[in-house]
Amino acid sequence: LLPLLIALILGYLLGSLPFGYLVARSHGVNIFEVGSKNPGATNVRRVLGPRPGTLVFALDALKGAAASWWALLSHTDVSVTFALDETSLAASGTVAGSAWTQLGVAGLIGALLGHGFSCFTRFRGGKGVATSAGGILILMPGATVIAALAWVTVFYATRYVSLASIVAALALVAAAFLLTLPGLLLGLSIVIAAFVVIRHRTNIGRLLNGTENKSGKKSPPAR
Ligand code: G3P
Repeated sequence: LLPLLIALILGYLLGSLPFGYLVARSHGVNIFEVGSKNPGATNVRRVLGPRPGTLVFALDALKGAAASWWALLSHTDVSVTFALDETSLAASGTVAGSAWTQLGVAGLIGALLGHGFSCFTRFRGGKGVATSAGGILILMPGATVIAALAWVTVFYATRYVSLASIVAALALVAAAFLLTLPGLLLGLSIVIAAFVVIRHRTNIGRLLNGTENKSGKKSPPAR
């Protein structure tokens, strides 16, 4: 249990690194006060342009990936797996996975919480899309590709980043299910989808009443 707790805490600290806030501040902007007021890549791009936006996406994705990846590095003996045979798995529905997968999942959940409720920005934070993307690319690359395709399709069809992010999060769950990934990873995809949808609740309200900002348009409504 201790390694899992350490993974969770280290993940939380990594995820708390407020890259959106820091990049915007380096341009003299408080990202919590402009645009959608979200400290994510989308809002940084909206307010400051493509380069800072892309930088924030890359850094946020990197911290999600790092939160999962260090677990892999710290557990090079990936043959250490849970001693659960298939019969007991089927009977109890117990979550199974190799030791490093468990640590990676704990690290990413920590990073997601850190990103959303950063200890460096008075527990404010972002919506978790880039951070999740980096982590799941390490933990479940196949499902990530499917979710990314869903994001690209919805974005180019509608120009709503928020809608693309929500659909991609739901597509991740469907992909984890269809690819019959281990229960632990399916569970992670459900946690991510719930986090992303809940954090997008104001976007959902705006999508429903037709006031959501479309990519490329100036002056988004307040968060
Ligand atoms: O990842 C966040 C994005 O889906 C929405 O961002 O700034 O439009 O609320 P924003």
